[in-house]
Order: sequence, then C-alpha cells, then structure tokens
Amino acid sequence: MKTSKNIFVCSECGFTNAKWLGKCPDCGAWNTFEEQEQIIEKTDNKTKAKPVNYAERLSQLEIADYIRMKTGLGELDRVLGGGLVKGSVVLISGEPGIGKSTLLLQICNKLASGRRVLYVSGEESLGQIKLRAQRLKINEGELYLLAETSVDSVVSEYERIKPDVLMVDSIQTMYSEKFTSFSGSISQVRECAMTFIELAKRTGCSVFLVGHVNKEGGISGPKILEHMVDAVLYFEGERRQSYRIIRAIKNRYGSTNEIGVFEMSDIGLLEVPNPSEMMLEGRVESIGGNCAGCIIEGSRPIITEIQSLVAPTVFPSPKRTSDGFDYNRMCLLLAVLERRLGLKFSQNDVYINIAGGMRLDEPAADLSVAMSLISAVTDRIAPNNLIAFGEIGLSGEIRSVSHVEYRVKESVRLGFKTIILPKKNVNARIKVPEGVTLAGVSSIFETLKYLQKKEEV
Ligand code: TYD
Ligand code: MG
Repeated sequence: MKTSKNIFVCSECGFTNAKWLGKCPDCGAWNTFEEQEQIIEKTDNKTKAKPVNYAERLSQLEIADYIRMKTGLGELDRVLGGGLVKGSVVLISGEPGIGKSTLLLQICNKLASGRRVLYVSGEESLGQIKLRAQRLKINEGELYLLAETSVDSVVSEYERIKPDVLMVDSIQTMYSEKFTSFSGSISQVRECAMTFIELAKRTGCSVFLVGHVNKEGGISGPKILEHMVDAVLYFEGERRQSYRIIRAIKNRYGSTNEIGVFEMSDIGLLEVPNPSEMMLEGRVESIGGNCAGCIIEGSRPIITEIQSLVAPTVFPSPKRTSDGFDYNRMCLLLAVLERRLGLKFSQNDVYINIAGGMRLDEPAADLSVAMSLISAVTDRIAPNNLIAFGEIGLSGEIRSVSHVEYRVKESVRLGFKTIILPKKNVNARIKVPEGVTLAGVSSIFETLKYLQKKEEV
C-alpha cells in the first residue's frame, strides 16, 4: 500500500522535518528547507522476512582488481587515478561555459572506439551536439546521443543500448515521474542521481554526471550528491583565459592531490603536459615585485610567477587582496617581513596575484611570495633566472620542504640559474649542471643578497 505526505528537507545536510524551518537544527544553515513529497511504501512485516546480510572477515574477503579504462586524455586519467574505473560514478562540476560538455564529448571519442557510449543531454538538442562533435572531429560509430530529460526514458534507452559508459549532461536537468517538483530541485536531483548510481553498481557501467554550480561556487543540489558518487571533479579556470584545471575534490579510487591542465582552443580542449611553460608565458623582463616559485601538485612540480604590488594607501586601514594565495598566510608573511626585516607595509595597500591563475596551497610557496613582497616594497629586483621555494616560520626562519629533487629538476629544465631553497634541504643527492647555483638559506634575511639593486640589473 502506498501513502504520500509532504516533508521538509534541509538541502545542506538532508535533515527532515514535518514543518518548514528557517534554520536547520542539525547543521545550522539558514533558509535551506525545501518541501518534497515523501512516498512511503507500507509492507506487511509478517509476510515479508528481511534477508540476512552477514558480515565478512576482511582477511577472507576476495575482490577483483579495479578495471580502468583510458579516457584518451592523459590529464583526466591522472586526476581519476589512472583511468576511469568500471562501474564508478564521477561527478564533474564547473561554471557555465567552462567546457564540461566539450570535455565529455571529447572523451566519448576515445571511449567509443571499442566500447559503447551513451551521451544523454538534457540541455542541448541532437543537432547542437552533432555540430560540436563535427568541430571536435568526433565521429565514432559506437557513440549514441540522446536528448532527453526524463530519467525513466534514459533508463529504458540504457537497457536497450547497454552501453559501457553513460554520460548525463546534466543531472540538474533530469526529472523523475515519482516527484512533482521541478527538475533541479533537491528531491529530483537526489532521486535521479540515485537511479544512475544504482544502475552503475548493478550493471558495471561507468557513469559521468555533469553538475551545475550554485551562486557560492559549490555544486548545486543536495550536499548528499557529493557523498553518493565515487569521485567529484571540479573544472575551473578563468573564462577570459584559455587554460582549464581539473581538480579532484573526492576520489574513492585515487589521490585527490593531482590536477589536470588543459587549454581551450578552437578545436576543443588540448592537454598541457608541462604546465610550467604555460604559467610562465608572457613573463616580462625583471621587474620589481615579481618572483618565480615552485609548488608540487600531486606528483608534478609546477613553476609559476608571483606578482606583488605595494602602493601607498588612501584608506584609513590599508587594503590587502590576494588572488591565488591564502589571504591569512599573506597577512602572516607581511607581519614576519615587517617585524624581522623592518619593512613597512602598514601604510601601503598590498596586492598579490599568481600569474597564470594557479592556486598556491603549499607552504613551500612562502619564500617566493615573501621575496616578491620584499622586491615590491624595496628597490630590489628578483632576476628572471632566479627561483625560490621554502616555508617561512614566524621568526623568519626558512623551513625545509618536500620533493626538493623534483623542484630543482623542473627549475633547471626551465632554465633557472639561481635556485634559492631551505639550507636543510641542500644535500649531495641534488645534482645541478654547471652554471646553476643552489643557494641554501636559513633565514629570510639571507635572501636579500640575491635580490639585485635596480641599477645592477
Ligand atoms: P561547453 O562545453 O559548452 O561548457 P559547459 O558545458 O561547461 O557549459 O563549452 C563552452 C565554451 O567553450 C564556449 O564558450 C565555447 C568554448 N569552446 C571553444 O572555445 N572551442 C571548442 O572547440 C568548443 C567545443 C567550445
Ligand atoms: Mg554544457
């Protein structure tokens, strides 16, 4: 017997209540309650015995290895942990126009040679997809397109075609007949995602779901969506610039440290296997406030340029902005430079920008940021062939960092001649060719001698 009644669900944590509430008592979020229809199926307990699920001993559990498929884009495979796992569900999210549909169509091309792929679009017509596919030179025989928003129709087409990979663009456009609410609402997104996840687990088909972002930049729809899927990838980048970065926020089959770098061109997304070159593109000759640094993203060193600008303030309290570097870390570094080197930032606005749009989340970026700030506020310049990495402590000491050999190797490959690094990291194992100086420093004060006076440059 079926009965239905309406309940209210918090879109952040999934807390349910019989009445609408302004604030969720569970997670504390405001204005997150949405009404949805709850269908309760009543079964007769006496006649239906519950199946027993026995716990198994870990040591005796036998599982097959993950089967991974190459998507044809090495950068994406890297983020997925070595390829797309059979039966997994991957959610790709990003701003409108960033290239989610383009990426999916491109990987269809490789996957559809030898496998069957069903691409479901709830946003574009078949004609629009075909036009894009022509531009991307995609014409694989086993690629099926479907313009549909009803999840039940998608499932029935799935059962007919039996693809190995299913792409759903996007989950917010899908709707299920079970609920009367609009597509994109909490209950619809959850129900449709559940249907596709259940399908993937039951049949071993891999599923890509495209997710929209909300105003705040998170994935729109219930938070539970991110918990339900196996991997969550964010596709990010400045729409004005051509590079794009894919980052794993969650991955049940790999590390979440890796990033994939792409460039959007007129023939679609191109892989960028050596991002450092792209990040350093368009560097101007040695100018005050700029300094190169090196961070590790997953297993790859990436070199970027840090740019700082220090200008007298017109405000009662000076302005500080940072794009690509943690704001609080910047304030900490400013305090260290002010106290330990006597540099004056308190009367100045400070702006930090990472050229190329990378995000520096690693402590090893401290030294290059600090040297760019020193250069911006003094008449000293970091030469173009100088690079620095190291963590800075509160007393101005330079602390050791990881993966030094990788960083040095990448710096040498890109032609840097002076590599400033923590003294503790300098050892005999690090080899550099002739003409390259490894300058170990133990305090921020020691870095000053590597910054040249303007007239010397
Ligand atoms: P799209 O994949 O439609 O973005 P999303 O699905 O994330 O909304 O990509 C949209 C942008 O990419 C669009 O502004 C045009 C650009 N683009 C190119 O520059 N080159 C191409 O070959 C393609 C297909 C798109
Ligand atoms: Mg799209």
